[in-house]
Amino acid sequence: MAMAAVVAPSSSSSSSSSHLRQALPLKSPPLSRNFHLPQSFRPRRLLASTTIRAVAVEQESRAQLGPNEYVDVFACPVCYEPLIRKGPSGFNLAAIYRSGFKCANCNKTYSSKDNYLDLTVTAGMKSYTEAMPMGTELFRSPLVSFLYERGWRQSFDRSGFPGPDEEFKMAQEYFKPAEGGLLVDVSCGSGLFSRKFAKSGTYSKVVALDFSENMLRQSYDFIKAEGTISDANLALVRADVSRLPFASGSVDAVHAGAALHCWPAPSNAISEICRVLRSGGIFVGTTFLRYTSSTPVIARPLRQQFLARYNYFIEEEIEDLCKSCGLTNYTMKVQRSFIMFSAQKP
Ligand SMILES: C[S@@+](CC[C@H](N)C(=O)[O-])C[C@H]1O[C@@H](n2cnc3c(N)ncnc32)[C@H](O)[C@@H]1O
Repeated sequence: MAMAAVVAPSSSSSSSSSHLRQALPLKSPPLSRNFHLPQSFRPRRLLASTTIRAVAVEQESRAQLGPNEYVDVFACPVCYEPLIRKGPSGFNLAAIYRSGFKCANCNKTYSSKDNYLDLTVTAGMKSYTEAMPMGTELFRSPLVSFLYERGWRQSFDRSGFPGPDEEFKMAQEYFKPAEGGLLVDVSCGSGLFSRKFAKSGTYSKVVALDFSENMLRQSYDFIKAEGTISDANLALVRADVSRLPFASGSVDAVHAGAALHCWPAPSNAISEICRVLRSGGIFVGTTFLRYTSSTPVIARPLRQQFLARYNYFIEEEIEDLCKSCGLTNYTMKVQRSFIMFSAQKP
């Protein structure tokens, strides 16, 4: 069933978190008459499909959402219908932690765990555990998550990564058309860039998203330690890049730092990124290249043999991936094995 996008109530609720975490009684979700699209759905950016959807939703607006219930930016990872949120308003860690989310279509509920909102398909499952490939599992380790910003990430500089400050500046240039919108930092790790995006004040909302529970816990600790960004427009979300919890065409910018080579199926991930981006939305990613045009021809077979299995690509493959998934205006900057690429949703 289609859901309306309804602006969050302006004042915070004083309800207790235990009350808010109760399953939401929303079998036939009632909808508000006051329809507004969320900030990231600003009119100049609307896709035709989004407009049609909003109209369809408006036609269903006979009933009303309950007190403190509204539709936020998150969608069900199973069916992609926008989730109904119940709880205090505000796009910040505390308010999201105290909110419950429900898909009226699947009747599934989602809530926060350890300060991040779990929007994986497996959230809440009791018996089933999904084993992911090495590139994903490695970063779920508490030790790797702890070490990540304490030396691991810094070691990327040896391969040509210009360092977080410069990478952030480069990404911000590409993201100019997305200013003021919703940015999702996919595979955020310990939140190195999410914190910079949130602190920049450039975006109305920043979602730090990763599959690793421990990376998200580490992100939370770093956010708390910095103090100043806890109340920024920032959310911590657990999700699989191949199943992004956002409605189609609802995201202005997607950043994926040093992540493409870690994803189980890069083509599924980039298709998914293309799905959630709105028309004109920007995708910026960085990764390690297997070799570049300046790598001596004699060294290539060796790099080919050892690095292909780690999903290290060559420049042309990344461009091919982006284009085949429907993205356009591909550009890139290369420095030794480092590549930053950008592409746009038509
Ligand atoms: C090398 S870290 C990059 C962290 C950060 N973006 C940066 O620029 O330093 C790669 C991240 O990809 C995440 N990742 C791996 N597989 C994933 C998946 N299927 N969905 C979402 N994130 C995934 C890992 O948990 C890890 O945090």
